[in-house]
Amino acid sequence: MGKKIVVLGTGGTMSGVASTQGDNVGYQAGERSIASLLIGLATDAALNSEHWVADQVAQIDSKDADFDLWTALYRTCLTHLGNDDVAGIVITHGTDTLEETAWLLDCVLPVGKPVVLTCAMRPATALAPDGPQNLLDALALAQRTSAFGVSVVCAGTVHAPKHVRKVHPYRTDALSSGDAGPIGWIEEGALRLARSWSQPGQAQSSKTFRPPPNVQSWPWVEIVQSHAGARSTAIDAIVAAGVQGIVVAATGNGTLHHVVESALRRALERGVAVRVTSKCPLGAIVGQPVHGLPLGEAGLSPEKVRISLMLELIPEET
Ligand code: SIN
Repeated sequence: MGKKIVVLGTGGTMSGVASTQGDNVGYQAGERSIASLLIGLATDAALNSEHWVADQVAQIDSKDADFDLWTALYRTCLTHLGNDDVAGIVITHGTDTLEETAWLLDCVLPVGKPVVLTCAMRPATALAPDGPQNLLDALALAQRTSAFGVSVVCAGTVHAPKHVRKVHPYRTDALSSGDAGPIGWIEEGALRLARSWSQPGQAQSSKTFRPPPNVQSWPWVEIVQSHAGARSTAIDAIVAAGVQGIVVAATGNGTLHHVVESALRRALERGVAVRVTSKCPLGAIVGQPVHGLPLGEAGLSPEKVRISLMLELIPEET
């Protein structure tokens, strides 16, 4: 018997249930167990139930993802990755914050075996659900030793955590890697690469990750936006309340409304870490904007820059 694939369920639309088959939006996410979704697939000849192990890590709508989920996933992945009988891991996750969890895991997990996140845009009860095919594709990818590290599969497309973003609120092909393009595609269980697998942005943190002991001890980092008619009130308020880091979703090539810029300089003087990134969904800030404030990693979305900054701010000893 070959090695096992561990399938970690966290909920999302893939396990969602609606009251009628024709309803693709009015459903409750996180209802069906991961074991039942896998049993539903087991009629497929490619899926031998002796080769997977289901583990229900959470059962949530991913809009409610939190530090507890991240800690549980990190610890569970680490345990399974250290087991010689495990070839790889699949994680089912809601699309709404999948890119954040994928980036967090990409930053903190050891690169070795495949860890494939997948999702669905239609509930399990839909007339034509997309979850079963996405799950099959993820299982196929997780069996390939060449697919090392964290990746994301949706609608037949394989994305790198660094580049993937949810770009559509409804259609089944809701994720995109933007300018960077996908790593490749899964077609009838086979991987067709668009580029070398080693190129995805696996951002290994230089220090060993130790999850903070509880929700309160994760660093407090907020995202603010620069936009027309910006005010400083919200920034000044979170600084006064003790925020540790601020990520700014800036306009265009990292530019800031002068009111936001002044408020950020006051925050820096108070010891708050500041990172600027562009809110443009494609591309990356070119050069250093004239304000000279610190930039997040090139091309990362504000949400991912926030995760990187939180990881940076976790004290070594926690
Ligand atoms: C969720 O993110 O859990 C709900 C939405 C989705 O999975 O598409």
